[in-house]
Amino acid sequence: MAFPTETVYGLGADATDATALGRVFAAKARPSGHPLIVHLAFPDQLDRWSEDPSPAARRLAETFWPGPLTIVVPRRDTISPVATGGKPSVGLRVPDHPVALALLERTGRPIAAPSANRFGRVSPTTAADVAAEFLAVAAGPDLVLDGGPCRVGVESTIVEVLYGEPVLLRPGGIPAELIEEVLGCALRSATGPARASGMLSSHYAPRAEVSLVEPGNPAALAMAVAAALADGKRVAVLGLSSDLVGWRADLDPAALVLDTIDSTEQYARMLYRHLREADRADAEHIVALLPEPDGLGRAVRDRLRKAAAPRP
Ligand code: TXA
Ligand code: MG
Repeated sequence: MAFPTETVYGLGADATDATALGRVFAAKARPSGHPLIVHLAFPDQLDRWSEDPSPAARRLAETFWPGPLTIVVPRRDTISPVATGGKPSVGLRVPDHPVALALLERTGRPIAAPSANRFGRVSPTTAADVAAEFLAVAAGPDLVLDGGPCRVGVESTIVEVLYGEPVLLRPGGIPAELIEEVLGCALRSATGPARASGMLSSHYAPRAEVSLVEPGNPAALAMAVAAALADGKRVAVLGLSSDLVGWRADLDPAALVLDTIDSTEQYARMLYRHLREADRADAEHIVALLPEPDGLGRAVRDRLRKAAAPRP
């Protein structure tokens, strides 16, 4: 079943049940090598579902769970290898959402759940978005639990704390700065082959093509909009209201402006909803004005960069 978390909606199955997990991969059309995040009801279940987690992993769990942080630790063999894509590690997190926690407590199971979208597409942040995502899919979820719109709006931060220095695999709902403060060291950024599907270059993609503009460059924004309109495209513009105010008037009135965004937190919360809204409005090109790269701005920039990457 699909269920709400504070980040995005997840498509869940018992993390010890290979058959149920197979259905999740099938519904999403997700390649089998891409591991799922396993959700737990309580922070002290870290020990039950991982093998000898490091002191750093414990510290992160104690500090940030429940919350939007996934900690990659050595796998216990009670977690199905289907959930972990055959990897020796497992990504664990305790979500901070009453419906998700009630589901986890009442079933008493670890629940593996990727975001409840088709592979490569925009993650859903409302129950209606989940339903729309699987409308045409025969093998979709049996049930969608409706917990209202997600509070954080972008996925959890993923940190690998296996051996040696901790690695940031995906920026997300907990700012990397806060994690570094708790660990007392810098997070290494992941390099090399994509280890998280969010690390593939094209991901989180709406139907419309996306182009990006750095903050503080109104001329570049107006030019990007004009160029797309000149190409005959229907254009939507996305950005912080405070960045758009003042030169909104300079934008071609033919462009749909999605600018009800007052803070970086709200940019994160509204990002996927705005991308879906642009698709519903039949926009063919989205010009996104990026936020500054701090706090949740890192996650927003990461998702927009992937939405803008060349499609396979
Ligand atoms: O906020 C979230 O994290 C949401 C909600 C539902 O919890 N879930 C989510 O799942 O974003 P998904 O499958 O869309 O992204 C999970 C990411 C994938 O990119 C996967 O490769 C990575 O986590 N991941 C999971 N286990 C891993 C592991 N053992 N090593 C490296 N990456 C892992
Ligand atoms: Mg996803």
